[in-house]
Amino acid sequence: MAITHPSIKSTDGKHASVTTFPKDGPPPITVKNLTMAYGTFVLMKDINFTVNHGDIFIIMGGSGSGKSTLLRHMLGLIEPAKGEVWYGDFNFTKGEPEQREEMLRHFGVLYQGGALWSSMTLAENVGLPLGEFTDLSQGEIREVAALKLALVGLMGFEGYYPSQISGGMQKRAGLARAIALDPEILFFDEPSAGLDPISSRLLDDLILELRDNLGATVVVVTHELASIFAIGNNSVFLDAESKTMIAHGDPKDLLAHCTDHRVQTFLTRGGEDNKTEKSARQHG
Ligand SMILES: Nc1ncnc2c1ncn2[C@@H]1O[C@H](COP(=O)(O)OP(=O)(O)O)[C@@H](O)[C@H]1O
Ligand SMILES: [Mg+2]
Repeated sequence: MAITHPSIKSTDGKHASVTTFPKDGPPPITVKNLTMAYGTFVLMKDINFTVNHGDIFIIMGGSGSGKSTLLRHMLGLIEPAKGEVWYGDFNFTKGEPEQREEMLRHFGVLYQGGALWSSMTLAENVGLPLGEFTDLSQGEIREVAALKLALVGLMGFEGYYPSQISGGMQKRAGLARAIALDPEILFFDEPSAGLDPISSRLLDDLILELRDNLGATVVVVTHELASIFAIGNNSVFLDAESKTMIAHGDPKDLLAHCTDHRVQTFLTRGGEDNKTEKSARQHG
């Protein structure tokens, strides 16, 4: 049985018009000398990286290393202790509140947990940002919401409540909501957390399709190795112990060439030695 979903197109049925981040312009995202802290507790320092047009950029690292915190910095939910986040040639960190708001309109976000409103149908959930940020009529909002749901393989589920569908479908509905406003940059925090391998794989395919068909740039927080290698073409690796990034680049290149044992251990799920040890324990 083939599990497929329709190709993704933007609201008007054509490819999204990308104007904020032209392909021949500066990189969509640049993080410069970022220090992240909670109060006086410095979590990470000297974070520097660039996300290029069309990248699927992975923020990876162990649990608690600061991946979600980095995402929150990039979305302006936390201010840097030091350093800056740039979108194109706009200094987001130093920007005026109205300009920052305007920039955020071009983003779609699926937060960790990705909670939908349980008292609202899927169509109402997806319609929320449309009601808030566009002048579309109720009828038009219903139409666009249905289209977005169809794009993530949820045609016919408009009237369902989140509790009536599976976890994988909830994630896809969250994705439909994230793309409601035809974003140019998509941010996902642990999108496949809690999903079975098939649903997880489907979500990866969907993320790739979104990137291709919306012409979007994608930032994904994840520690799922299968996803990292399946979709990522660029990355940053956060290391909690040294409190900074210790690798940057295509995850497949890092696996092949990075000599840092911490990065290798992570990318090989504990490494070959560990595997032998585990199996010896299981059989001994
Ligand atoms: N609001 C907060 N206040 C203080 N410390 C926090 C807060 N949120 C997260 N932390 C701490 O910051 C560290 C990184 O958290 P987080 O960014 O959620 O990690 P990850 O997403 O990589 O698992 C953890 O040690 C966590 O306890
Ligand atoms: Mg997290």
